[in-house]
Amino acid sequence: MIDKIEKLEKEIKEAIAQVATSKAAEELRIKYFSKKGEFTRLFDEFRTLPREEKPKVGQFLNKVKNELNELFKAKQSEIKSAAESSKNYIDLTLPGKKRELGSYHLLTQTLREIKSIFRTLGFSIHEGPELESDYYNFEALNFPPDHPARDMQDTFFINDKFLLRTHTSPVQARLMQSTDLPIRAIIPGKVYRNEAISAKSYCLFHQVEGLYIDENVTFAELVGTLVSFAREFFGADVKYRFRPSFFPFTEPSAEVDIWWEPAGKEGRWLEILGCGMVDPNVLEFNGIDSEKYTGYAFGLGIERMTMLKYGIDDIRIFFDNDKRFLEQF
Ligand code: PHE
Repeated sequence: MIDKIEKLEKEIKEAIAQVATSKAAEELRIKYFSKKGEFTRLFDEFRTLPREEKPKVGQFLNKVKNELNELFKAKQSEIKSAAESSKNYIDLTLPGKKRELGSYHLLTQTLREIKSIFRTLGFSIHEGPELESDYYNFEALNFPPDHPARDMQDTFFINDKFLLRTHTSPVQARLMQSTDLPIRAIIPGKVYRNEAISAKSYCLFHQVEGLYIDENVTFAELVGTLVSFAREFFGADVKYRFRPSFFPFTEPSAEVDIWWEPAGKEGRWLEILGCGMVDPNVLEFNGIDSEKYTGYAFGLGIERMTMLKYGIDDIRIFFDNDKRFLEQF
């Protein structure tokens, strides 16, 4: 009987060592340790032994049973912890998660391009406040109080003294009053207009102001500068025209249009900027000798320029923050 027990013990130990899944462990348990299992049956056999053999065999059988029990339990917990750790297993071969990289807003890209073109033309870059006084926005630019020219630009007033600037031109006056001559500057920034919102106009947009004041500055230089700018920005074959216009702070004044011909549609002229020679009244008001100095100024709309360059037909899309639009640039 002892031999038989030892033989089965050896067999079961080997079988336990082979087990790798909880299913195999269960099969092993049934085969050897269930009620009719091969090992359990040894106890039936034990009961039939002659009395004098029982103590020795019984002791041995119990010892083997306990050993096998321990071994089997150890195997079960090994399988269980392996299953658990495989849940936390990191698959190093999986492709990584793609991180979405932000990019500059199309208007920022356009502004950067405009700045860099004017930088190469010798302009420095300045800024001014968006909350502006009536004095700089209008008075210092030759808009007399209650003059109808103020209605050219629908204004968001804060109170009778302050407003959201309707153009970047007030920074012209600020520079004239605070900077030594000559001045050769561009001034980018946000401006605000209290207009009905449509595909063409928004309550907020961006301008780049330009100002050049020195001795003997001429209208021809203004034209030359703006034409080189337009060629650089839109391409050498850009079609443009200068059209006479009116602004209280420039004399003479002009507006520049660019020929726009979207694919499959009829072409038309689109205005991109206002410009002119700084009115001598403005020079004098801001402390500059108009006998000695002349200057030119211009103000261009960044949204307009961007729409023309990229074929965008609704200004509102710049402010929607729609990723489907933003991701295209
Ligand atoms: N400030 C004018 C506007 O917003 C544009 C302009 C700037 C015109 C400078 C002439 C000179 O319409």
